[in-house]
Amino acid sequence: MERFSIEGPVRLSGTVTASGAKNAALPALAATLLTDQPVELARVPRVRDIRTMTRLLEHLGAECAASGSVVRVGGWPGGDHAEAPYELVKTMRASILVLGPLLARRGFARVSLPGGCAIGVRPIDEHLRGLQALGAAIEVEEGYVTARAERLVGTRFRFQVPSVTGTENVMMAATHARGTTRLENCAREAEIADLAELLTAMGAHIQGAGSEVIEIEGVDSLHGARHQVIADRIEAGTYLLAAAITGGDVTVDGARAEDLSPLTAALHDTGVEVEPTGSGMRCRGNGALAATRLETAPHPGFPTDLQAQFMALLTQAEGTSTIRESVFENRFQHVPELNRLGADIRTAGRLAIVQGPRRLTGTGVMATDLRASACLVLAALVAHGTTVVDRIYHLDRGYESMESKLQSLGARVERVDQPMDL
Ligand code: EPU
Repeated sequence: MERFSIEGPVRLSGTVTASGAKNAALPALAATLLTDQPVELARVPRVRDIRTMTRLLEHLGAECAASGSVVRVGGWPGGDHAEAPYELVKTMRASILVLGPLLARRGFARVSLPGGCAIGVRPIDEHLRGLQALGAAIEVEEGYVTARAERLVGTRFRFQVPSVTGTENVMMAATHARGTTRLENCAREAEIADLAELLTAMGAHIQGAGSEVIEIEGVDSLHGARHQVIADRIEAGTYLLAAAITGGDVTVDGARAEDLSPLTAALHDTGVEVEPTGSGMRCRGNGALAATRLETAPHPGFPTDLQAQFMALLTQAEGTSTIRESVFENRFQHVPELNRLGADIRTAGRLAIVQGPRRLTGTGVMATDLRASACLVLAALVAHGTTVVDRIYHLDRGYESMESKLQSLGARVERVDQPMDL
């Protein structure tokens, strides 16, 4: 099993380029099922979750070819094979994104239930309610969701919870429905507007994606298209936080100010400024960090996907900080690992109380999920001595070439696959 060995402390400086957004590329790949023509996606990150999605598309009968960060999907011929099996879905919850497109194209889809997840229960009831509102008959049995509809019919539907992939799934299905669909209380994350841009290029009629209300006028068929996926705001945010925690100076090319404003505001509260450059965003840490109060929330709130990384930063801030995790019920698994490095963090339910600053010292720590892994890497950059982050296969799901990007900024990080004595 591979690990990162990180020597600290270091001060990072330089420029890295943001990869494409994993959480935009995944629905974009699922959307290719809506046509039998080729779709070419550029700036697709080379991370494990993308490979899982292309394997799923191949399993369904679509040909996928990757060249660098360009992925070309030959189009889905249709056929009777509209099933996503447990073996693929269990490794990545986002596989549920094929449900809407398969149903819309074939009138039938059978997708394994994603099951539990380290960060919370993560139900898919909102996806199913939305598809039912479009006229699908849904059955859940033997661990599979089966959805059927001869032709989906436009409707008015309100999400009870603004789910990101739920909004994407129902929006994709509605592109093929007869008539107009109005979706209310939609998630507003940038990845949804990016998906709508691809769908529009494929011939869909969509208004309002990125806002609370999305209107989709159904069409009979969609066609091939080319699309460039947006830059990954969570990856970019992680490198900006790496600058802040190390008192460094890092520019992330490709990062978009509008996607990162909740992070910029939270960093401002700690005394760290982030400014747009011509081509991206620059963060200059100044070594002095103030404690703050933070709460995660759906966009435009502070993203839950940067909560763990921000907590690493707060271990170095002067005073008592609090973080409330409002999106997922179990997203503090990095806390005991940060405490192993010398942090002083207590949790009570969804609240974490961080006492800082603390001198961190290197030791062995265990990654539990994707963003928790990134948090441990950030902490390791300021910890004195060697930190070994175990189970970095979690990191590889969503961060492209993290060690080489960090090395280019001056970090002493190595990927090792030998057992290490600590
Ligand atoms: N929820 C429901 N019912 C549903 C769907 C969601 O109650 O049917 C609840 C969830 O339990 C959670 C909240 O709604 O409390 C938000 O979940 P959401 O559905 O928005 O999350 P998701 O679509 O499953 C995406 C990202 C996650 C990110 C969340 C929140 C993708 C592929 N995944 O998940 O990304 O944390 O939105 O922003 O887009 C990651 O990249 O590390 C990651 C976990």
